Amino acid sequence: MINRRDFLGGTVAALAVAGSRHPVWALARTTAPNDASMIPLLLGVDYYPDQTPESLWEEDARMMADFGITNVRIAEFAWALMEPSEGKFDFAWLKRSVDILNKHNIAIILGTPSASPPPWLTVTYPEVVEVDAQGLPLHPGGRRFTCPTNKTYRRLSLAVASQMARTFAETPGVVGWQIDNELTLSGSPRCYCNFCRAGFQDWLRAKYGKLDTLNQAWGTVFWSQTYTDFAQIPLPLSSGGDPNPGLALDYDRYQSYANVSFLEEQLTMLRKVCPRHFVTTNNVGLVDYINQRDLYAKLDFVAFDNYPGFFKMHLHQQAKSENVTWDPVLTSTAMSHDIGRSLQGRPFVIMEEQSGKAGQRMFSPQPEKGQLRLWTYQAVAHGAMGVNYFRWDTATFGAEEYWHGILNHDRSPSPGFDEIKQTIKELKALGREVLESQYVADAAVIFDYDSDWAVQIQPQHYQLTYMSQVTAWYGAISPSHTGIDVIVPGAELAPYKIVVAPLPYVLSEAQAQKIREFVRAGGTFVAGFRLGAKNEFSQIVRTPLPGPVRDIMGVTVEDYVPLYWEKPGVKFSGALAGPDGQCGIWADVLKPETAEVLATYSSSEHSGKAAITRNSFGKGKAIYVGADLDPASLSRVLQTLAASAGVQSMMELPRGIEMTVRQGGGKRWIFLMNQKPEPQAVKLAKPGTDLLTGQARSGEIELSAYGVQVLRLS
Ligand code: GAL
Repeated sequence: MINRRDFLGGTVAALAVAGSRHPVWALARTTAPNDASMIPLLLGVDYYPDQTPESLWEEDARMMADFGITNVRIAEFAWALMEPSEGKFDFAWLKRSVDILNKHNIAIILGTPSASPPPWLTVTYPEVVEVDAQGLPLHPGGRRFTCPTNKTYRRLSLAVASQMARTFAETPGVVGWQIDNELTLSGSPRCYCNFCRAGFQDWLRAKYGKLDTLNQAWGTVFWSQTYTDFAQIPLPLSSGGDPNPGLALDYDRYQSYANVSFLEEQLTMLRKVCPRHFVTTNNVGLVDYINQRDLYAKLDFVAFDNYPGFFKMHLHQQAKSENVTWDPVLTSTAMSHDIGRSLQGRPFVIMEEQSGKAGQRMFSPQPEKGQLRLWTYQAVAHGAMGVNYFRWDTATFGAEEYWHGILNHDRSPSPGFDEIKQTIKELKALGREVLESQYVADAAVIFDYDSDWAVQIQPQHYQLTYMSQVTAWYGAISPSHTGIDVIVPGAELAPYKIVVAPLPYVLSEAQAQKIREFVRAGGTFVAGFRLGAKNEFSQIVRTPLPGPVRDIMGVTVEDYVPLYWEKPGVKFSGALAGPDGQCGIWADVLKPETAEVLATYSSSEHSGKAAITRNSFGKGKAIYVGADLDPASLSRVLQTLAASAGVQSMMELPRGIEMTVRQGGGKRWIFLMNQKPEPQAVKLAKPGTDLLTGQARSGEIELSAYGVQVLRLS
C-alpha cells in the first residue's frame, strides 16, 4: 500500500521533473518501482456506498475495476450513519465497503463528513446554524448550513473526523483524505451570527493589537464609529447605511480565515493520526468567498470540482436565453484549471468531474459526444494528476436525483459510459513522461481576493465585478496559447515574461514593491483601471493615483470616470496601432509623466487624453490600460503586448482550438483540444508524433468535433 511518506517522497526523479509530489498509488499495486507502465495519474469515481444497498457493493467494485478506475472518494456526507447519536460511532458499514473496494484493488479517499451534520446535532445544538447576510438563521435539512466559528460545531466535526481517522489509519486501501466538502459553497457563503461576531473581534484584536490602530486603519471617525472596546465592533449587517469599507473587507477576510482554521483543526488531527495518508479538500476554482491560497496552503495538493455543462445551463437560466455560447464556459473552465494548478504551483486533482446530465431541480443537457473525453484531457493538459468522475451511479432519492453518474438510475450504462471508459484506457496508455511533464506558462494573471471583495463591497459602478474583469482579461490573453498561471499577490513574479493585473483596486506597498522589482528586472506588467486606488485597509490613498506604483507606471491618473450613457471611443497608436475600440463602463484618464501614449480617448470631454500608456522602467515595461476596453480590442491589446514581451503562440490556431504545452526531460508535448462541435483543421508549425496512435503528424491535421490530439514534438 502506498503511504503518505512514499506519496510525499517517492519517485524522486519523476517528482524532480514535475516539481511536484504525485499521488503515485498506482505504485502500490506493483512491486517494480521503475515499471514504465505505472501511471502517475488518479482516475477514479465519487462513490456513495451509504446511498447504495449493501447487496450491490461487491458488484459495484467489480464493475469499477473492470471499468479501469484506480480509486474512489467516499463517505463525505455520511455523518448520520457514522454517528447515529452523539458519541455513538459506527464505522462497521464503512469498513465493510472499504474492504470490498480494496479487495478489487481500488484505492480509497475518505471524506470527513462535516458538511452535512445529522438532525440530532441541530436539535441538540440549534445554535450551530449559520446566519445569513440578512441576519436570518439558515435551517437544517440541506447541507452546508453551519457556522464556521461555532465551537460546538467544530468540536463535534473534529470528534467524528478523529474517530474516523483512528478507525481507518491502518486500513488497507485507504490512501488519503478529503476534509469536508466545498467550504463556503452554498446559497449563503458567509455567516453573520453572534459567534462569528465574537470570533471577528478576537481576530481583530490579534490583527491590530490596539483599538487606536484599528480606528485609524478603518477611519472610524466617519459617522461617529470610533470604538473604545473591541466588544463594540459590529457585524457588517443592515444598518441604515453602508458599513465601513475597512470593517467590511476585514469581515470577509475573517470569514475566509474562520473556514480555513476550521479545516486546519481537522488537518492537524489527520497529520497526527494518519501520517501515512495525504490530505486535501475540494472546492470550485472560481469560488471567491474563501482565499483558496490560504485554504490549500498546508494541504498536500489542490483538488477541485468541474461541471462545465452545469455552468452553461446556469448561464442560460441567468440570461433567460438560449443564446448562451460555450465561449464564457470555456474561458471560465480553462481559468479554473489554471487557478487550481497555480495555487500551489503543482499538479492538482479534479475531485469531481461532470460525467453526465447534471442538475438539482433541473436537468442540464447530456454532454455532447466527445465532451466528456475533452474535459478529461483538458484537465490533464492543464496539469491535473487525477480526475474523479462524479458520480459512479445515479441516486434514486435525495436532492440530487437528477445528477447523473456513469450508471443510470436502473444501473444500466449511461450515455457517457463507453466514452469515459475509453478515455481512462487512453490516459493510462499516454505514458509517464508526458503525465509528469511540466505545464509551461510564460504569462500570469493576478487574481487578488482583497480587490475582489473590496469591489463586491463597493462596486463603484453597478455593472462592475472583479470576476468579470479577470475572466475578460484571461479570455483576452489566452489565445496567445503560451500558458497562463493565475496567481495571487505575493506569488513570485520572476518566472513570467508578462504579468497582467485586471482591476487592481487594492494594492499594498509590499505588492507594489514586488511589481517594481519585477519590472526593474525586465518584466512586462500590464494593469487595468482603478490601479492602486485603495490600500490594504480599504482606504483611498492620499497620493495621486496610481498611488504606490506611480513611479513604475510613469503616469498620473487625471480623472477616474464611471461611464453610464456617454461612452468614449478609443484610438490606438504606436505599438498598438489598429482598429478603433470602444470604452465600456470605466475610463481612467491618464496624464503621462515619463510614459508614452499608446491610445487616446477619441470622443467625450476627455477626447485626446491618454487611455493607454507604456513606461520603460529599469529593464522592463509597465503598461496602464485605463479604459475598460471592448472584448476585441482588449484581446488585440493584450496579445500585442504579450508578443512584444516574447510571449507568442508557436502556431496560428483557429478560434475554439485550445492548446497547452508541457515539457520535461528535454522533450515537449502539445495538447490540442477542439472545443467546437464541428471538425477543425490545424496547421502544425512543427512535426510531431501522435501519442494516442503513434503516427507521425505534420502539415495540416484535422481535429474532429470536440477532438483531442496529444503530440510529442520532434
Ligand atoms: C458538487 C458537490 C457534490 C455534488 C455535486 C453535484 O459541487 O461537491 O457533493 O453536490 O456538486 O451537485
